[in-house]
This record gives sequence, structure tokens and C-alpha cells, in this order.
Amino acid sequence: MRRAVCPGSYDPVTNGHLDIIERSAGLFDEVVVAVLVNKSKKGLFSIDERIELLRTVTAHLPNVRIDSWYGLLVEYCTENGIAAITKGLRAVSDFDYELQMAQMNKRLSGVDTLFMSTNPEYSFLSSSLIKEVATHGGDVTGLVPEHVRKELLRRIRENG
Ligand code: PNS
Repeated sequence: MRRAVCPGSYDPVTNGHLDIIERSAGLFDEVVVAVLVNKSKKGLFSIDERIELLRTVTAHLPNVRIDSWYGLLVEYCTENGIAAITKGLRAVSDFDYELQMAQMNKRLSGVDTLFMSTNPEYSFLSSSLIKEVATHGGDVTGLVPEHVRKELLRRIRENG
């Protein structure tokens, strides 16, 4: 079975992420969307909430499952028989750091990274920008799945 992982923070998942997840699901037998835990970053959504949002928005993709991991991504890959990491590249500014990580991951474990060019419709998107715009009342319709938009607005209201 050809299995890939789409790693990220997903705080929260955006339409840009979803595009990469869907395209990965078309290329591999199974895709694991792994929420990587970064203990030094407090997110807007908890890891469990991010997983729930991801489960909801990928429910139409039968070969996608959601998981979380604390530690090195390559350890997750080795433990789960995953040979490839799929990532979206939005712009040249992503490239330096992504290349560095891809080469480190290859060196550590032999796992390859496949880069996909982000759909130009979403090339300016990031979870941080979505949170910032939504926090200040900007409209993020069409930039995140509708379910995510509602949960995002609810969380922002709760946080006051
Ligand atoms: O959505 P993000 O925050 O841009 O995703 C970055 C992420 C989580 C994919 C990256 O930081 C990562 O792989 N972290 C796991 C820890 C790890 O393996 N670090 C070494 C990378 S060479």
C-alpha cells in the first residue's frame, strides 16, 4: 500500500490545506493527515479540536485518516510505514525552509518529500492570516471550509 502523510499544525485547516490533502488522496492509496504538536505554541484550537475539524472536512475522502503526533515527523513515518511526505508550496518564500526540512527528513530516515504547487486561488493563505483577519471581523468565506469558518467565529466570540 502506498501511504503518504500531510503534516502540519492545522490551527485551523484552510482551503489551501484541503486542496493539498485532496490531491494527495488522489495519488496515494492512503493519506494520513498528521497534526504535529508543538508544545511551545499555544493554538487557538486544541489538538483534539483540530482533529475534529479535519475529520469533518475530509469526511468525503475515504482514504484519508487523521492522527496527531508529538516528536519528529520521520519517526511517525517510520512507525507507520509511510514513505512520502506531501507538502504544498505557496511561493518562493516557502521554498528555502521546506527544502531544508525535506533534506533533513531524507537524511534522517530516507523518507521523501513531494512538493505540490498550491492552487493559485489559495497561494496567499495561511492559518495565522485567517485567524488574524477573522479576529478583526474580516470575511474569510471561501478561504476555509464553512464548518471551520463557523467554529472559528464561535471561538473568537468565546475568547472575547
Ligand atoms: O503547518 P506548519 O506549522 O507549517 O507545519 C510545520 C510542520 C509541523 C510540518 C513541521 O514543523 C514539522 O514537521 N514538525 C515536526 C517536528 C520535526 O520533525 N522537526 C524536524 C523537521 S526537519
